[in-house]
Amino acid sequence: MPRRSARRPAVLSVCGKDGVRSATRATRLIALLAAVALWSACGGDDVAPTASEAASQWSGDPAAFRWALPAGIAPPVVPPDNPMSDAKVELGRRLFYDVRLSVNGAVSCASCHRQEFAFADAKNLSVGATGEVHPRNSIGLSNAAYQRSLGWAAPATTSFEQHAMIPMFGEMPIEMGLKGRDAHVATDLQGVALYRQLFAVAFGGDASPIRTETIVRSIAAFQRTILSFNAPIDRYRRGDASALSAAAVRGMALFDSRGCVQCHAGADFTLATIAARAAEGFANTGLYNIGGAGAYPARNRGLMEITGNPADMGRMKIPSLRNVALTFPYGHDGSVGSLDAVLENYARGGRVVQTGPNAGDGRDNPAKDSRLRAFVLSPADKGDLLAFLQALTDSTLIRDVKLSNPWR
Ligand code: HEC
Ligand code: HEC
Repeated sequence: MPRRSARRPAVLSVCGKDGVRSATRATRLIALLAAVALWSACGGDDVAPTASEAASQWSGDPAAFRWALPAGIAPPVVPPDNPMSDAKVELGRRLFYDVRLSVNGAVSCASCHRQEFAFADAKNLSVGATGEVHPRNSIGLSNAAYQRSLGWAAPATTSFEQHAMIPMFGEMPIEMGLKGRDAHVATDLQGVALYRQLFAVAFGGDASPIRTETIVRSIAAFQRTILSFNAPIDRYRRGDASALSAAAVRGMALFDSRGCVQCHAGADFTLATIAARAAEGFANTGLYNIGGAGAYPARNRGLMEITGNPADMGRMKIPSLRNVALTFPYGHDGSVGSLDAVLENYARGGRVVQTGPNAGDGRDNPAKDSRLRAFVLSPADKGDLLAFLQALTDSTLIRDVKLSNPWR
């Protein structure tokens, strides 16, 4: 191993860089111009382990795979046709952080799902490879493997394998911009020795393993390892009463008594993972009421965009609150700037947008969930609720080397 790292040239720190860049025109241009050069630089055989090194480091055997989970926590469901293996997870991690998976080398999955922000991106709205602004706020990925559906309002997207096709190939909006470029991407990856070896180990027996299906399966396997069960709340739930401050314990009681737990319940603080019926995982929280008839802004109308039913206006997935202190800003469109503002909106019984095209009193939104009732939020209560929400932060997740950018 030391031999290999000693050989690793400095350029590798640029290769596969997760594209965490500001989306200024200048940086995009530089990214574009540099992309071709980087791609060739990244393919150097001399930086990769040999095939046998790769095979001995990462097992391709599903039977040898072990979940890193505390006792009593069941592993997420894994599709039978995409079993987990160490090699597949490592491959998925490389791909998740690889800008080769975008039309111009500008972004990877990790650009919009950054480990330091619990795999959200700290932007109001995400920005795709070509600069197009996504109508939605990026969703943190901790324990996403337990989500019944993926996306703010996509009940039919139920697996990572299905979901990855959207950022990779979608055109509305363009995220990675790979439509029609499957062969191109496969050729790029084929040029990288480590990929040739890892694909061969992860998909042993497959004559030409580098293709969209296996790329997607590998990224899915990696995402199933983005597991977070080490926040103070987890240690508290496992019996360590000292894991939560007195303020957080008071906040937890308020979280119950103010009705938050009616929607944010269970291991991941969302009905979306535990409700008997999938539809119970969505709610309208009264963020908008454009024109007084309940409208949400275009492209952000929640389940109504799928069902056409006005009662589904603004119904978004109830987000997991794991690591919520890191996944700012908030709401499906990132329009709620802080946890403080989130709490103010709930206490008021909805959000009032005073001016502009989205003006309206969300409290009176006819599709607002009936469980949401205004309540008095004293400064002390607010502090306690914030202390509780902060106790959902798992600081080991954001430092976990196994989830970090492998190309650095
Ligand atoms: C341009 C930024 C961007 C890129 C690139 C991107 N995502 Fe996302 N991701 C988002 C946004 C925004 C959402 C919310 C989308 C929605 O609900 O419409 C999201 C949602 C998700 C979700 C749903 C999580 C949940 O709990 O519902 C998963 C999983 C995910 N992305 C994985 C990926 C993977 C894997 C890649 C790379 C193949 C990727 N993303 C690339 C911005 C991005
Ligand atoms: C009726 C179900 C429901 C109740 C009750 C509820 N929430 Fe939510 N919560 C949601 C939904 C749905 C969203 C996303 C709304 C959107 O973006 O349009 C959300 C968003 C949030 C967010 C932002 C998370 C993010 O990633 O953007 C926080 C924090 C939050 N809720 C905390 C609370 C607290 C604290 C309470 C109690 C005062 C509460 N919720 C009560 C359904 C609910």
